[in-house]
Amino acid sequence: MTVVVSGIRPTGNLHLGNYFGALKSFIRMQEENQCFFFIADYHSLTTHPTPADLHGNVKNVLVEFLACGLDPEKATLYIQSDLPETAELYLLLNMNAYVGELERCTSFKEKIRQQPQNVNAGLLTYPTLMAADIIIHRAHKVPVGKDQEQHLEMTRTFANRFNRLYHVDYFPEPVAYTFEENLVKMPGLDGSLKMSKSENENSAIFLADPPEVIRKKVMRAVTDAGPTEMNQPKPQAIENLFTLMKTLSAPETFAHFSNLYDTCQIRYGDMKKQLSEDVILFTETFREKIRELHANNAYLKKVVALGAEKAHASAQKTIREVREIIGFKSF
Ligand code: TYM
Repeated sequence: MTVVVSGIRPTGNLHLGNYFGALKSFIRMQEENQCFFFIADYHSLTTHPTPADLHGNVKNVLVEFLACGLDPEKATLYIQSDLPETAELYLLLNMNAYVGELERCTSFKEKIRQQPQNVNAGLLTYPTLMAADIIIHRAHKVPVGKDQEQHLEMTRTFANRFNRLYHVDYFPEPVAYTFEENLVKMPGLDGSLKMSKSENENSAIFLADPPEVIRKKVMRAVTDAGPTEMNQPKPQAIENLFTLMKTLSAPETFAHFSNLYDTCQIRYGDMKKQLSEDVILFTETFREKIRELHANNAYLKKVVALGAEKAHASAQKTIREVREIIGFKSF
């Protein structure tokens, strides 16, 4: 049976980038695979070491996981910090992870730029914790967006290195996976290449955003004076709007506005109005369920307990075997 693992950091509500980069694949994959999906609260401390409401952030993501259709009976839904075996494997993997390779990681370099006042060891070893998350269940596939490609590559490096160093064929080589043809990178409304909650709040549309907020954000999205020549390539911010429309709207709608652009007749106001209504329609069912689930603490508690139990069974087996392979023995 194919083992699938993936996680999302609880640093804010989930946005459309999270949905199309990861969650959509989670929902499809849970049907036919052994899936482990978790909320990466340890990881969130690398950028937010003193969160105002860690528990509330975790609850938001849990609610949004469930609202999107993740089924706690089919998949194992758990909270990263409920599984300390991950922390032990992280420690062991760090012994064979080299500072040079960690420093070369693109996301580390980016974080140094974003938070020069807090270049902590957790940031440097972010990829080993992520590798531990994945190989603790000896995963084969990892549904993620394109921004996680390099982390996956490092996971393969650490898994292979473990096998080589200890002369075993224990960890499989996990590969990135998405149901789209290519790994997805959902762009931001601010003209940035990636929709993100950390860089700019206005770049992201959240699954829980009410209709009036969605309208406001989309109408404020960055545009320009419009094309002056036929069939010209689009500037990044305009390309972004078209990518969103292609993902969310009906194919005829996308074709209609593409044609208007190519013939220099586009009015961005009209395009944005259409796009906001399509986003509102798409997120409607999530909004309803999110509201219901937030009020149902007893159910959430049950989901978390079940997830922790199932995740433990898998992780404890791996840790026992890893300890044995390395040479830890009990007296
Ligand atoms: P995070 O929390 O930044 O994002 C969660 C998931 O959403 C995807 N994503 C996007 N996909 C497409 N376009 C975007 N604009 C976009 N923004 C976010 C991410 O690719 C990711 O799949 N390191 C991970 C969390 C993690 C993890 C793991 C993932 C920790 N351990 C083990 C997989 C396996 C992260 O920061 O994702």
